[in-house]
Amino acid sequence: MLTSPRPAPVEPARPPRGRRRTLVAVLATLVVLAPLAWMWGSSLAPTTWSAAEMGVPDEGGGPAVMAGHGDMPGRSVDSLRLPPDGPADVDVTLIARAAGARYTLNGQTPGPEIRATAGQVVRVRLVNQDVARGVTLHWHGMDVPNGDDGVAGVTQDSVLPGGEFVYRFRVDDVGTYWYHSHQVADEQVRGGLFGSFVVLPPGPAAPDATALVHLFDGRRTVNGVPGELAVPAAPGSVVRVRLTNTDDGPMRAWSAAPYRVLAVDGTDVRGPTPVAGAAVQVTAGGRVDLEVTAPARVELGGAAVVVGGGGPSSSPPAAVLDLLSYGTPTPRDRTGLGFEPSTPTRVFDYAIGRRPGFVDGVPGLYWTINGGMYPDVPMFMVREGDVVRMRISNSSGEVHPMHLHGHHAVVLARDGVPATGSPWWVDSLDVPDGSTFEVAFVADNPGVWMDHCHNLAHPKQGLVAHLMYEGVTTPYRAGSGTANDPE
Ligand code: C2O
Ligand code: CU
Repeated sequence: MLTSPRPAPVEPARPPRGRRRTLVAVLATLVVLAPLAWMWGSSLAPTTWSAAEMGVPDEGGGPAVMAGHGDMPGRSVDSLRLPPDGPADVDVTLIARAAGARYTLNGQTPGPEIRATAGQVVRVRLVNQDVARGVTLHWHGMDVPNGDDGVAGVTQDSVLPGGEFVYRFRVDDVGTYWYHSHQVADEQVRGGLFGSFVVLPPGPAAPDATALVHLFDGRRTVNGVPGELAVPAAPGSVVRVRLTNTDDGPMRAWSAAPYRVLAVDGTDVRGPTPVAGAAVQVTAGGRVDLEVTAPARVELGGAAVVVGGGGPSSSPPAAVLDLLSYGTPTPRDRTGLGFEPSTPTRVFDYAIGRRPGFVDGVPGLYWTINGGMYPDVPMFMVREGDVVRMRISNSSGEVHPMHLHGHHAVVLARDGVPATGSPWWVDSLDVPDGSTFEVAFVADNPGVWMDHCHNLAHPKQGLVAHLMYEGVTTPYRAGSGTANDPE
């Protein structure tokens, strides 16, 4: 009889040692790579996006806000402006051209200064002669209607070669402002596509001088010229020097003789006292108006404004003027602001951090807002008339000059220390690493508004959010599938 042979004991299928190690390594790699691949995939920006629909809606603890999604009836940003073809008191045409790595407006860098009197209507016709990627103009610090804000892909399409766009708005707020392109802004502002914009009070003009400070080819220039800007002035006369920092980092200005800080970001300081032995710091994108008595020399570190033949040159003082306590507060605390910030409708956090990750598929060390990385950043939702408080904090290791479009905010406190000086109104605020600012503003200018860092390398790395009003929509889109690239 046949007996089946006993089956040989079967070894459990164990791969040889070498293969097992490979398997473990592959699994470990997958454990590491799978989340990375997911992070990479979820970081990819859609080829076109709408500013009205991006980010994580944040209502700041206030009443619900209807988001302006595409199919929702609402007011388009196009309706939030004057008709462009009406009359104007000041009429300017600016022709943009590319000149190598530079850009010109009407053949010059910076572009021509625009001057108007408060209450006038200004029309600017922007013509793009040959800037290949297109251009726009944003009126930095001017609270213009949203449709004139000049942000490519948010409030308009970028103006391509051969095209034009007409801005027309009334200027109500006296002060020192500037304009610049908000299409490929990092490259175009660096290349000189900007100019000064001064709004004067009605009445006889007081002596003043504009100093747009900018780094060209690594050299500090004033109004495009390296070195010194000479301002004629009779001895003993008082001159207002309007400083604008068009670069990415903070700039210090000082003078050997006492000076006064008359205005910050276009708003007059209340009760400015003489400053001696201290510099004033101008935020990137910010403006400071100084009052000097001729002869005087305003030092800008590598450049200077020489008024009435000059004065002694001086090295930078160690002290920096603290605007938190400079000037005189309003008679009853805060009532002079025109609104009551202690009972806000909404309270927002704008907490800036930094960590490794992906933005649009590219790995790097990126900025975060409230822990999220672009496009996972907050969309601050408001209704017209809301009183808004915002806590801007920074633990990212670098200073960020934060700029909210279309509004001015008043500084309430820094690092828990309440403001005790003149109301300190800003549109551009340096938030150093490790510090926290408490600011407040009234949501009184409906639209979709950028709220971003003005170190223009940073918005490209994700440091940009938006303030969004209920019921506002935009037909414009940005992204690689469009011609619009606001950063
Ligand atoms: Cu001066 Cu969003 O810019
Ligand atoms: Cu920044």
